[in-house]
Amino acid sequence: MKKLYGVLGNPIKHSLSPLIHNDAFVHNGIDGTYLPFLIEAPYLKQAVEGMKALGAGGFNVTVPFKTDIIPYLDQLDDFAKSVGAVNTVVVKNQKLYGYNTDGPGFVKGLLDFMEGSLHDKHVLIIGAGGAARGIYFAMAGYPLARLDMANRTETSALKLIKDGSFDIQSTALSLDKAEENLANYDIVIQTTSVGLANPNESPLSLENIKRDTVVCDIIYNPLKTKFLKEAEQKGCLIQTGVDMFVNQAVLAFELWTEKSPDAERMKQLVLRNLGG
Ligand code: ATR
Repeated sequence: MKKLYGVLGNPIKHSLSPLIHNDAFVHNGIDGTYLPFLIEAPYLKQAVEGMKALGAGGFNVTVPFKTDIIPYLDQLDDFAKSVGAVNTVVVKNQKLYGYNTDGPGFVKGLLDFMEGSLHDKHVLIIGAGGAARGIYFAMAGYPLARLDMANRTETSALKLIKDGSFDIQSTALSLDKAEENLANYDIVIQTTSVGLANPNESPLSLENIKRDTVVCDIIYNPLKTKFLKEAEQKGCLIQTGVDMFVNQAVLAFELWTEKSPDAERMKQLVLRNLGG
């Protein structure tokens, strides 16, 4: 009988997760189906219990439920616990296990892009929300020279760095200060929702950025945000949000099925769908 998988979120109709997971089920000979579920916030608990009652093998959780879902789960893995956000749930023996594959998914994409080397890099994360937190916690395990964070609300960046208390050089900056000091960084990671809400906006100007800096945006729709277009014009190497999206899906698929899907096939499906 087909095993149920899905994603709980609101909004959900633009999610490309059903596309790539359903294709991966067929491609890997797994009898599963992955559906999008639009959930109203007061019904989150019932929706989670419903997935268990229906015998689901697992599911994803997306905006705005990545933190709210935690009280309804039986166990979190250490990384999800420290980040305080879950995007993947495995159902096993009537128990719900929470994971966070967003941060590790981002880092996997960046490592591939950098051909494995993050050694001694000066890294700046822009934004201090949920997505930035997963990325910061995942990146802090690598031998970077520094991992700074700039945010509109500087105190949130400071709090995030303090929460992590990792043994790594890390400073919180205002967006203005980051803009001034952009030439100090080898890698700049855009995690705010600015380019998503308005494709003609960008969280800061890249006037001072160095040529050949690696510039990533975690937004994948639009494929090339204003931020990335500006970076490209300055001679930077750009990475769109598609890699993070695909890699978090690969890790989730592995947790559910113990099989590795074809990441390149997933990526091409996403790019085709986005007209890239
Ligand atoms: P997510 O889970 O996608 O990271 P979030 O937790 O709501 O979403 O975080 C959104 C991030 O985008 C925050 O860093 C936010 O900055 P504040 O902490 O100051 O709110 C940032 N952000 C949102 N709108 C912004 C804007 N117009 N200019 C600059 N930063 C913005």
